[in-house]
Amino acid sequence: MNTGPSTAMPVAIVGCGYWGPNLIRNFFASPHFRVAAVVDRDPARLEPVRANFPSLRTSTDFAAALAPEIGLVVLATPPETHHPLGLAALNAGKHLLVEKPMALSSAHCGELNALAARKGLKILVDHTFLFNPAVEYIKSAIASGDLGELRYLDSTRINLGLFQEKINVVWDLAPHDFSIVDYLLDEKPASVSAIGAGHLNKDVENLAYVTFKYPSGMICHFNFNWLSPVKVRKTLLGGSKKMILFDDTEPTEKLRIYDHGVERKPDQLKYSLMVDYRTGDIVIPKLPQVEALSQLVEHAHNAIAGAPTFIGGDSGERIVRLVEAAQESMAAGGLPVALA
Ligand SMILES: NC(=O)c1ccc[n+]([C@@H]2O[C@H](COP(=O)([O-])OP(=O)(O)OC[C@H]3O[C@@H](n4cnc5c(N)ncnc54)[C@H](O)[C@@H]3O)[C@@H](O)[C@H]2O)c1
Repeated sequence: MNTGPSTAMPVAIVGCGYWGPNLIRNFFASPHFRVAAVVDRDPARLEPVRANFPSLRTSTDFAAALAPEIGLVVLATPPETHHPLGLAALNAGKHLLVEKPMALSSAHCGELNALAARKGLKILVDHTFLFNPAVEYIKSAIASGDLGELRYLDSTRINLGLFQEKINVVWDLAPHDFSIVDYLLDEKPASVSAIGAGHLNKDVENLAYVTFKYPSGMICHFNFNWLSPVKVRKTLLGGSKKMILFDDTEPTEKLRIYDHGVERKPDQLKYSLMVDYRTGDIVIPKLPQVEALSQLVEHAHNAIAGAPTFIGGDSGERIVRLVEAAQESMAAGGLPVALA
């Protein structure tokens, strides 16, 4: 627990709904930070915090997060608040760790990034999955060349989700997958196309199918759905040499690496494609049992101290631009939206 070193940076955590308590627990456990204020405008949300962490100072007033001693403000509030509260934190001279999505438009992300740059402050975005050991493993497998040339990624993130009024399923779930592909792949998508449907509220899609096309020919496809009776969190990454299945609902065996592939046979017959199927071993790597958020808190400490980061405001803005493009494509009946 972080009552310790006087060098620990005082942090204010704002928003104690579903996700905020996870941030409180991990910042509380870090030697690099001291949780100096916990804020939620709803007093009922602060009660469990006081019960679990009696030493923490709580407040219903956001001003408590802007007290002079605070070095870092963490926003775990609803997405529509990220832009106004983020501006207030930066204007008060605080570094910012903001939940995904960074804001509800790329213009708002750009404004936050410009202000942080002017003030010499850091913005970090909680793209938690980038600290998941399975994602780390996939990143190193790609870098080692083990998978060969990457061909496709197919991701399914569906469950009986909490229907939201202000954001649709893409704004809610896609930042996870979009941040993963942004992190894993060297290239950026050339276009985004998406279709979706809102069954309870036609203006708020509760399911969506999104496709990214890349200059190399790589394709990523995502299935997001709040209306599925089963929870599925599966990502398949296909390379020319090997393929990886990442199943995040598996408690320990989250990754399976298939030494499977298909190769074209030398042209014997002109009019039919002859292929050789290769089915080799299936490897289940042992992954470290670490909580992604504790890694993120350590990373935030280093990033604020000047180390390079892959969860900066620039990445938050890129991910929001991808969500925006998916939204634009849905509005245009699925037409591809070209990206700069
Ligand atoms: N990284 C992840 O894996 C992950 C997982 C879940 C949620 N999230 C993100 O975390 C954020 C919060 O989501 P949630 O599910 O915890 O929402 P939630 O609605 O459960 O909690 C939000 C809390 O913020 C409080 N709040 C709202 N406006 C406020 C304000 N102006 N000042 C102080 N408190 C305010 C609310 O009272 C509420 O307690 C969202 O951006 C969401 O996308 C991230």
